[in-house]
Amino acid sequence: MLIDILTIFPEAFESPLSASIMKRAIEAGLVTIHRHNIRDHATDVHHKVDDTPYGGGAGMVMKADVLSHAVDAVPKKGKSLRVLLSAQGQAFNQAMAQELATYDQLILVCGHYEGVDERFVSSRIDREISIGDYVVTGGEVPALVVCEAVTRLLPGVLGNSESAQNDSHTTGLLEYPHYTRPAEFESQQVPEILMSGNHGAIKKWRRQQELKRTFERRSELLKRVELTQDDVSFLKTLGWKG
Ligand SMILES: C[S@@+](CC[C@H](N)C(=O)[O-])C[C@H]1O[C@@H](n2cnc3c(N)ncnc32)[C@H](O)[C@@H]1O
Repeated sequence: MLIDILTIFPEAFESPLSASIMKRAIEAGLVTIHRHNIRDHATDVHHKVDDTPYGGGAGMVMKADVLSHAVDAVPKKGKSLRVLLSAQGQAFNQAMAQELATYDQLILVCGHYEGVDERFVSSRIDREISIGDYVVTGGEVPALVVCEAVTRLLPGVLGNSESAQNDSHTTGLLEYPHYTRPAEFESQQVPEILMSGNHGAIKKWRRQQELKRTFERRSELLKRVELTQDDVSFLKTLGWKG
């Protein structure tokens, strides 16, 4: 996959992309990330990317002409999607990450200041994506969130492909709790079943823990999950009215 990121702060991506899974995926050629400085497409001597808003008010607005030149300069490759990171966009979630992972190219545009000129959005952007109901200073961190969530779903990126399959939100449930050595930590024991070697019983316990966690923390998610008769019976013992 090719990810093109358009930003006025290309340096903001340096360290996040040079560690852990992103670094490995880039080195293995499983994802290619190009950073483009929007400022290179400003036409005036001061390389201005923003201007005051029509109608007055606080803050600055990123200019439609500069943003459009920047996006137009990125060659399209295969199945391609132009995304604006925006607090007003569609909520990003695991299902959307899975969908985006099917594209050949994502072109991610990072806004700043008060946002971007609406005419740029209507003429160049396919989708606006929000990483949550809060506002951050710029689109760089949201773009990194999208890059990470999508890249770890690309074939070959994770060492053990199982780990993405069981992740929270992939199955629609929150994942079961994890434990590692030592067996006792500050008087807390690892659940005995996990040391029993009984794989069938461990699988059942983990499924029940996923159901329990999801019921206790995010019960609204249960409405969207395919539940077996056993799942439903177990949830009812917890007080689920489903
Ligand atoms: C300070 S914010 C502008 C917020 C804008 N005035 C509003 O009320 O929607 C600047 C930029 O940060 C990015 N941004 C902020 N919050 C975001 C979020 N929750 N999801 C995605 N991008 C976000 C967008 O690119 C936005 O253009």
